Amino acid sequence: MTVRLAVIPGDGVGPEVVAATVPVLRAALEQQGERLETTELDWGGERFLREGAAMPADGASTIRAHDAALFGAVGRPDVPDHELVWGLIIGLRQQLDLAVNIRPVRAFPGVPSKVRDVEGVDLVIVRENTEGEYVGAGGLAHAGTGHDLGIEVAVHSRRAIERAAEHAFSLAEQRTGRLALVTKSNAMKHGYPLWDAVVREVGQRHPDVELEIVLVDAMAARMVQSPRSLDVLLAGNLFGDILSDLAAVLAGGMGMAPSANILPGSDVPGVYEPVHGSAPDIAGRGIANPTACILSGAMLLDDLGHEAAAKAVREALAATLTTPVNHTPDLGGSASTSQLGAAVLHEMETR
Ligand code: NAI
Ligand code: MG
Repeated sequence: MTVRLAVIPGDGVGPEVVAATVPVLRAALEQQGERLETTELDWGGERFLREGAAMPADGASTIRAHDAALFGAVGRPDVPDHELVWGLIIGLRQQLDLAVNIRPVRAFPGVPSKVRDVEGVDLVIVRENTEGEYVGAGGLAHAGTGHDLGIEVAVHSRRAIERAAEHAFSLAEQRTGRLALVTKSNAMKHGYPLWDAVVREVGQRHPDVELEIVLVDAMAARMVQSPRSLDVLLAGNLFGDILSDLAAVLAGGMGMAPSANILPGSDVPGVYEPVHGSAPDIAGRGIANPTACILSGAMLLDDLGHEAAAKAVREALAATLTTPVNHTPDLGGSASTSQLGAAVLHEMETR
């Protein structure tokens, strides 16, 4: 079988981490007698500067012609962030209706963390991915008058909450049976109380899962203080975004956290990407940590039914990360992006 993968390297460190990932995915599939066929797409900031759009208007249909997409990152200092983020990754999430964003975070043995006592941390954030505070509703009133008024309207629909909740409960059932819903229904009195109510309803269909509801500010503290008390977290778009950077740091930093944008129960191709952005502060130096991107690739293989290949990638990566000589500078080492990628490849091929 051939996996048809759309590859969108994007901007900044995106192309660097993607270049370290694709050969690992190819080798893992070939070990199982499968093939990887890639279509590289030049979407991102450079295309925006050249053609006025980060991706073509029918970008979503290009993705639909593949089994999945691997995306690096988008964003460059000389283009307003919202143009590129909306023009590419949020655009794809919305056009493909990729309802949930799965963001697992695991502390790998041998990888140092700035946070104490994280050994064994293994949690997953399930983030609603199409609306909430990132739905794009609003406007700018009185623009240029000196009394400019920015209006950003959050939207929380029962349908979107149910889709994310169903997925989170199923995931909790496959894991330790614990689910924490993150809201802010004390201060925000419309959307988040709806979340609480709908998620409790969905919970009635999953009696084996223990549901707790935690306010987002308390959750931020708890993630640092007792991250092992957490398994599956369910959150709206904004809180899921913020908490996933925090979770990444538990595991060693932004270079460690993968993600999957998917529409569960459908054959819509998922878009797999590291949680981090284009990291312009380190881009071009070949020192970005490719772990998040490689793990995103493993999620992609799993979702396409290539579990053995996914497992091979994860095991080779975990073994590689036990050795400090393979660590990139964000982990305190001096390995380059391509050295870490090559070490994972070597580990996989010699197993
Ligand atoms: P960022 O995630 O790009 O960087 C935050 C910090 O983490 C930086 O110090 C960076 O060097 C470090 N970092 C990130 N990835 C790393 C890696 N693989 N290895 C080692 N260190 C890494 O977030 P920031 O700085 O807020 O955003 C930079 C640009 O990326 C902006 O234009 C932003 O809009 C965009 N962005 C794009 C995303 C996407 O494409 N999905 C997600 C987040 C931000
Ligand atoms: Mg983010």
